[in-house]
Amino acid sequence: MRLQHLSLLFSVAVAAAHTTGSLENVISEQYLAINGVNFSTRAYWMRQANAALGQLVSPCPFGAFGTVIVNHTAGGLGELVCMGANNISLTGNPSMHGEIAAIKNCSEVLTDPSGPYNLTASQAQKAFSSLSLYTNAESCPMCASAIRWAGFKEYIYGTSIETLIAQGWGQIRVSSVDVFAQSFDLPYPARLIGEILTNETDPYFLWQYNPTYPCPAGCHRGSSGSCTAN
Ligand SMILES: *[C@@H]1O[C@H](CO)[C@@H](O)[C@H](O)[C@H]1NC(C)=O
Ligand SMILES: *[C@@H]1O[C@H](CO)[C@@H](O)[C@H](O)[C@H]1NC(C)=O
Ligand SMILES: *[C@@H]1O[C@H](CO)[C@@H](O)[C@H](O)[C@H]1NC(C)=O
Ligand SMILES: *[C@@H]1O[C@H](CO)[C@@H](O)[C@H](O)[C@H]1NC(C)=O
Ligand SMILES: *[C@@H]1O[C@H](CO)[C@@H](O)[C@H](O)[C@H]1NC(C)=O
Ligand SMILES: *[C@@H]1O[C@H](CO)[C@@H](O)[C@H](O)[C@H]1NC(C)=O
Ligand SMILES: [Zn+2]
Repeated sequence: MRLQHLSLLFSVAVAAAHTTGSLENVISEQYLAINGVNFSTRAYWMRQANAALGQLVSPCPFGAFGTVIVNHTAGGLGELVCMGANNISLTGNPSMHGEIAAIKNCSEVLTDPSGPYNLTASQAQKAFSSLSLYTNAESCPMCASAIRWAGFKEYIYGTSIETLIAQGWGQIRVSSVDVFAQSFDLPYPARLIGEILTNETDPYFLWQYNPTYPCPAGCHRGSSGSCTAN
């Protein structure tokens, strides 16, 4: 009886692990056009998320987290609304991860009276439910939660949290899938598309704790051992 009970518990645990495993499956197939947006367009914006680093900070900041927020409603390639990059070191604000910085920037861009949108605060808040957030690494649970609170239509990430952890990064070990799975009470649904163009996002995150990994393009190992812009 006791043994049977244990083995039942064991099979339940294995089944749960399998279920979690299949939930964690990510969408990165190149033949898929999700919400009418094909892979080459996804790749274009993921490259822009990488490029935001060079535009806003440097081609190889230590915290190489870049984000772009895009309007895909008009079709075609879509329209850049705003971008952001990890800005903890300049602001001293530890919550200024790339995604938070981008959301803050978009609020400012959308409500700027002399900018292209000139929305009211409530219009700006509502606008997020039509936008897509591209970020070059999977969001931490703080940012994944902010993405859900904002109500984005889509959230697309490059390098996974699993890869970050495996490569030495300190992370809070909750995946975006888990955050999204628990956010069912919130009003807007959101599509999660993971591990897009990791072959081009990974190199921004693999050098920090691995002294033998090459620096991103435009950078070299400085005397401190960190990658610095050429
Ligand atoms: C970081 O914050 C400073 C001060 O608000 C701002 O001037 C700068 O543009 C920001 N940079 C990024 C990458 O967000
Ligand atoms: C997104 O694009 C559509 C189509 O051009 C436009 O109607 C809408 O206002 C845009 N949304 C934002 C937030 O810019
Ligand atoms: C992907 O979509 C873009 C924008 O609509 C289009 O210009 C491009 O031709 C498409 N690419 C492929 C391979 O279908
Ligand atoms: C906000 O986004 C705009 C448009 O992408 C960009 O030009 C600007 O540098 C960004 N500002 C910050 C602080 O990141
Ligand atoms: C922005 O919108 C407000 C109304 O919400 C209007 O009074 C103002 O003139 C607009 N600004 C510009 C530059 O058009
Ligand atoms: C990365 O992989 C994508 C296909 O997933 C490919 O289109 C792209 O050219 C690759 N990038 C590089 C730098 O090889
Ligand atoms: Zn974060």
